Amino acid sequence: MTIERLREWVQSSNNTVILTGAGMSTESGIPDFRSASGWWNNIDPRTVATTDALTQNYSLFYEFYKIRIENLEKAAPHEGHKILADWEKRGKVLLVATQNVDGFHQLAGSQKVEELHGSIRSIRCHRCQQAASMDNFLNKVSCSHCGGKLRPNVVLFGEGLPQASWHKTMEAMKAAELVLVIGTSLEVYPVNQLPMMTRGKTVYINLDISQHATQFDITIEGKIKEVLQQLQV
Ligand code: APR
Repeated sequence: MTIERLREWVQSSNNTVILTGAGMSTESGIPDFRSASGWWNNIDPRTVATTDALTQNYSLFYEFYKIRIENLEKAAPHEGHKILADWEKRGKVLLVATQNVDGFHQLAGSQKVEELHGSIRSIRCHRCQQAASMDNFLNKVSCSHCGGKLRPNVVLFGEGLPQASWHKTMEAMKAAELVLVIGTSLEVYPVNQLPMMTRGKTVYINLDISQHATQFDITIEGKIKEVLQQLQV
């Protein structure tokens, strides 16, 4: 039974690296991007998640991130996030590398987290890079330092990933004896290259496994919270 075999792998590994995507937070009420109910089914990402969108149509850019920030206020990490944090406390997890910008892994208690696509919870000026307050962003105030446009510290399409986080994650992948890839379509480069960088055993846990079933040692088609609860002992 696959879940039994995976539970043994999780229990016996003390060098597990976890890579998560938006599917990790849908059971907290946060939409993902490419599922039927995902953001990109209603909005063209080029109109809100690029630097062109920010500079050429700030109102739409601002509305998109304001809605997502306000969504977060009403949401919280679920049992699955807490189980991953528990595994770290028990010395089993080297790193959680996430594409998510919601901060839910840290809120659930994970401390070794790399946010490869940044965070929606902090704000900076797009022109002078000066840090700014969330209130000023939500009130659509310009940068108090240079008058530039404020934006969340998320990585927009076309921007580089945080280099320190990327290198730390690559090192962890190389050292991992087990890599769990959870709740991501693996559509976005370069994060989708990470699972191939490990010599360890690889596992894919996702609702839709159709695109990647052959690429992993174990593939589990299911809802993340339920699967992680089955793995928890
Ligand atoms: N349980 C298991 N899998 C789930 C669940 C769930 N509860 N909810 C969603 N999923 C799966 C979906 O089937 C989908 O394959 O999670 C995956 C989420 O994929 P995407 O929506 O593409 O999200 P992600 O892979 O994180 O996107 C990567 O794209 O738009 C950019 O910057 C954005 O970080 C994001 C990046």
